[in-house]
Amino acid sequence: MQYEAVVAGSHNAEIGLPAAWEILSRGGRAVDAVEAAIRLVEDNEADHSVGYAGYPNLLGDVQLDAAIMDGANRRVGAVGALEGYRHPISVAKAVMERLPHNLLVGAGAARFADEIGMHSEDLLTDETRRIWKDGIDGRLPGKLELFRGPLAQLTALAADPEHVKGTVNVVARDKNGDLAAGVSTSGWAWKHPGRVGDSPVVGAGIYADNRYGAAGCTGLGEISIRGGLVRDLISRLAAGVPLREAGDQAISDLLPIALEFPQTAVMNMVAITREGEVASLTTSSELAWVSMREGDDAPVRALSIPVRWPGVEVGR
Ligand code: GLY
Repeated sequence: MQYEAVVAGSHNAEIGLPAAWEILSRGGRAVDAVEAAIRLVEDNEADHSVGYAGYPNLLGDVQLDAAIMDGANRRVGAVGALEGYRHPISVAKAVMERLPHNLLVGAGAARFADEIGMHSEDLLTDETRRIWKDGIDGRLPGKLELFRGPLAQLTALAADPEHVKGTVNVVARDKNGDLAAGVSTSGWAWKHPGRVGDSPVVGAGIYADNRYGAAGCTGLGEISIRGGLVRDLISRLAAGVPLREAGDQAISDLLPIALEFPQTAVMNMVAITREGEVASLTTSSELAWVSMREGDDAPVRALSIPVRWPGVEVGR
């Protein structure tokens, strides 16, 4: 039996969807299509929330998180706080395919990337270095170089300029009916060194299971980790709740946690069911998402379904 293929992602995945669709339309695997789309976003110098030219941490180091999950067998690969490699999604996929592990972090992840032949480079650009310096120094009484206190004090000052729109996620179903999800991010800008968000945390930022659906989320990872957001969505799908209601219920359930971050809390999700229905939900005031399926010459943009978090400031 042949299934209708479809790929969908967060608004910034638009640049990568045609490559994913090319793979799906010739019968390729969903997991390969997801990787192909995300690699192009990781290359996109204009996107400061993912890969090359992503915003760095407090110390000016770009640390990347990513994960990919194959719904056919629930195999997953993930990396956290990876430095010096612009394609964490491919390192994550290699973790899934080559290692008896799920998640590598920091120096171990970089060593693995080197061993599988990935090219290492400085991911900070002149532009992101300048924005980082302005962002950090602009909030400090003195220069960052002169600051001698604990970094934790600075973490409290840090305001992520991309907190609503950062991170990329992509979900797909291939002609075999297999689902996949992938997420890649440079994380919360000006984060504490070593901070890992929800993107590589299976069940929080990503999940894929052919029996029910697949999803990825973007937004404040500290919230989705505590709520196990994407696994919660999948459990609701497994219980027979329709996609849009399941997404609304899973995100709404996070409200008590979100209220701890009344100015910065935001959550966005892109999801697909085993039947190939796709949807996106957001707590921000307006956010686009993109999809491609048979008959589309280019990615189709649509607005995400709003989910209300009363008491939380709504970001754009
Ligand atoms: N959702 C991406 C992050 O919090 O790092």
